[in-house]
Order: sequence, then C-alpha cells, then structure tokens
Amino acid sequence: MTIENNINGEANPINTTGAQGENSAGYVEVIIQKAYLRPEYAVLLSGGVSGEMLRQAASQAYKVYLAADAAKTIDEFNETGMTASVEILQPVEVQAQIPPESMDAVIAVIDPENGNQPLPFMKTMAALLRPAGRLVLVVKEPRSGSWDLDGSRLKVLMHKADLVNVILQSEPDKLAAHDTSIQECFFLAGSKNVAGARSNVRKRYQSLAEESSCCGETEPSCCCSSSCCCGTEEVDSTVTFNTGYSIEDIQPLPEESASLTLGCGNPIARANLQPGEQVLDIGSGAGIDVLLAARIVGEKGKAVGVDMTPAMLERARLAASKGKFSNVEFKMGHAEALPLEDNTFDAVISNCVINLCEDKGKVFEEIYRVLHSGGRMVISDIVTDGDLPLEARLEAAGWAACISGALPHTEYLGLLKQAGFSIEGVQQGISGGTLGDTRVYSLEITAWKP
Ligand SMILES: C[S@@+](CC[C@H](N)C(=O)[O-])C[C@H]1O[C@@H](n2cnc3c(N)ncnc32)[C@H](O)[C@@H]1O
Repeated sequence: MTIENNINGEANPINTTGAQGENSAGYVEVIIQKAYLRPEYAVLLSGGVSGEMLRQAASQAYKVYLAADAAKTIDEFNETGMTASVEILQPVEVQAQIPPESMDAVIAVIDPENGNQPLPFMKTMAALLRPAGRLVLVVKEPRSGSWDLDGSRLKVLMHKADLVNVILQSEPDKLAAHDTSIQECFFLAGSKNVAGARSNVRKRYQSLAEESSCCGETEPSCCCSSSCCCGTEEVDSTVTFNTGYSIEDIQPLPEESASLTLGCGNPIARANLQPGEQVLDIGSGAGIDVLLAARIVGEKGKAVGVDMTPAMLERARLAASKGKFSNVEFKMGHAEALPLEDNTFDAVISNCVINLCEDKGKVFEEIYRVLHSGGRMVISDIVTDGDLPLEARLEAAGWAACISGALPHTEYLGLLKQAGFSIEGVQQGISGGTLGDTRVYSLEITAWKP
C-alpha cells in the first residue's frame, strides 16, 4: 500500500491509537535526529512506530517504508509537512520487498515481546542499509522482560552487525514517564561500515609519502604553511586546508617532514606540552607534529607517532634520524587498535586523521585507554554541520581528501563524550568550506581523561 505525498483522509485507511509511550515529541525527535535524514533519503521504519515518528520521518525524507503493525501507527499520523510517499509493508514482507543495501536509514523499535532477538535483528536491518547509512534502534525492555539488557552488550552487538560510530543513550526516565510497562529503553545509533575506506585512504597517503614534496611551486619546499595535500581536485568541494604553523616552527625540521604537512590545524600550539612529558601523535604522517613535540618535551620526554601507512613511517623515521632526534619513535598501527599500553601518555595529539577512520567511537576509546588519568587529548579534525549526502560519504577520493569520512559536529562530540572524556574547549578552526549544501570545517578540541 502506498500513501502519496499529499495524503488526504480517504487515502489513509488505518486509524488506531499508535504505539504507546511515544507521543512525546522530545522522545521522537531524539530518535529522528540520530538518523540524520535528508530530503533525498529512503528510510525504513520498523516495529512499534508511533504516528509522530512516521510524521517526522515523512517530512524529512522522500520515501518512507513502514514495516509495522500499521494499524497501531496511522491513527496518530498527521500528514502536515509530509514530503515523502509512505509505503506500508507487513513486517514479514520486509526482506522480500526491500533489496539489500537500498535504505539510506533504518529506524526500528524492538522489544522482547515482538520476538526479535537483538543481534539477528540488527544484522537483518544492517543488511538493508547502504554503506554509510544509519541504523537507529530503540530497544525497550518491559518490566516483565527477560532479556536483562545492558547498554555495553548492545553496543558490542551493534559492532558485530558491522555498524561503526555506535552511540548509546539510555533513557529510562523519559520513556517510563509515558509508559509504565517499560523498565528501560536504549537508543542506539550506528552507521554501516564503508568497505574499502581504509585501504583507499592508505593507498593515497602511501603515494603522497612517496612523492618528494607536496608543496606548490610558490612555496619554499621546506615550509608548507598551508596543508597542500589533505584535499584533492578530484572532490568537488570548496574546502581548503590550513595548518597555521609558522615558518620558524618548521624551517629547522628535516625536509622529509617539513615538506609534507597534511593537517588541518596546529594541535601542538594548543597542547601546552612540557619538558619530560610522554606524547602520542595519532596518524603521524611524515612526522611533523611528532618532531615539533619532541623538541618541546626534550630528552627526558618522548614523542611517539602511530600511522598505518608504511611509506609515511619510513619518511618520518628518516626525518627523525637526519634531525638526530633520540626521543622519538614511530610505530605501525591503526588508530582503532593502538599498539600501545594502557595509561601511558600525558598528552595525545592528532591532526586531521580521525575523520579518515571508519570508527571514530573506537578511536576515542583507544585514546582514552592510552592516556594517563588527568591526561589530555588535543586534536584538530574535520567535521560537518549536518550529514553529507550519502553519495559523498561513499566516495573513495573524498575519504582520502579528509571530507567524506567527516561526521556531523554533534555526532562527533557525542562519541567523544561517550568514550569518557571531559571536553574543555571546542573551537572552529582555520580549515573549511562546503560540499554541496553541507558546511565542512575543522574543529580544535581539547578534552581530558578525568
Ligand atoms: C591527513 S594525513 C595527516 C598527517 C599528519 N597528522 C599531518 O598533520 O601532517 C593522515 C595520516 O593518517 C594516517 N591514517 C589514516 N587513517 C589511519 C588509521 N585508521 N590509523 C592510523 N593512521 C591512519 C594516514 O596514513 C596519514 O599519514
């Protein structure tokens, strides 16, 4: 059954009370916001979906599939502002009617009473999503429930279903105020992994590291004050990347590092490093920030760089040896699984790297793990003011150019807080521009491990 955009009374044959407990606009908005819907999106709503949830989805997307006991939903449905056509499916028809990897977003409500076990259900929903599409789950445990749910277990299950950037919110009070039969309610959101993103990123940085210099001919080869390589002409955006290093900062460094600045800010300038400190740079590239840190922390301190690209590590190690730095180390590794001990560093810096990582949530957890208690994280990174179009989020060149992997500002900071950080300061940085209708810009963030 399809309800067309300008739905009228006749075309709406179903009229009952809607899902209990979801009438609160606040509750529904939280869920809808997590899906980051766009006007070109097709979205599946599954499970005990309220009329208000349907209305909000149908006024932000172009197509909504409603796989629910629709009789429970449509009565509340008020078509004001609706832009989407709505197609109603029986829940059992979903897999037959919706092709794999065809949904831009899926919003689903599950509880033990509808018989869905969380992991198989998450996997089924994730299979319907296009890569980079978002799954938003509302998991309700009734007071009589037998699942004994716990948020961290649900997060692990989301990862097992191939979802990244998983955010969990538990809202027992909000929902219980509307539905006394619910003991606990979890909101979970995650994006479907983009296969191949990491290998495309590595390929691009491998070839950049193998080039002798990324600086334009107008710049002296030893000191790129702008970051000439993070962006690329292959991506149709106005985003420009700047670092803000001074020539005095860079000139004394070996050319292998100084001529390949790929950042979008200057975290060292904000990190307030002190002699004797242990510093880690994640995604150290040709080593510029590690060498700058090593000069400040001195012989009694240490600066460590981790990068996943062999040619970058080679270049950074050559620079360290030419510059006779004895207090630096470069390690091969991934930001999502750092090859480092717990509670080791006083400061972790990173310059335009986390946007390139598929699972930012995992990266923040890793940074938290390797920092001492009381240690700080000082990063420059790229975010957006809303969701990028899904097509852009899939572009290999866009990932390598530090744009396609960028998350909305609020989602990024949500993941950071979820990892346990206390955020001290967030400022818009000196890199930025637009891609289509989305603003893309650098953030300068300082956060502490309590
Ligand atoms: C844009 S460059 C920035 C390099 C350096 N921070 C700078 O400011 O010049 C990104 C670097 O991060 C590395 N990188 C990207 N994703 C990574 C990941 N998941 N784990 C480790 N390194 C990664 C790339 O190999 C590359 O050297």
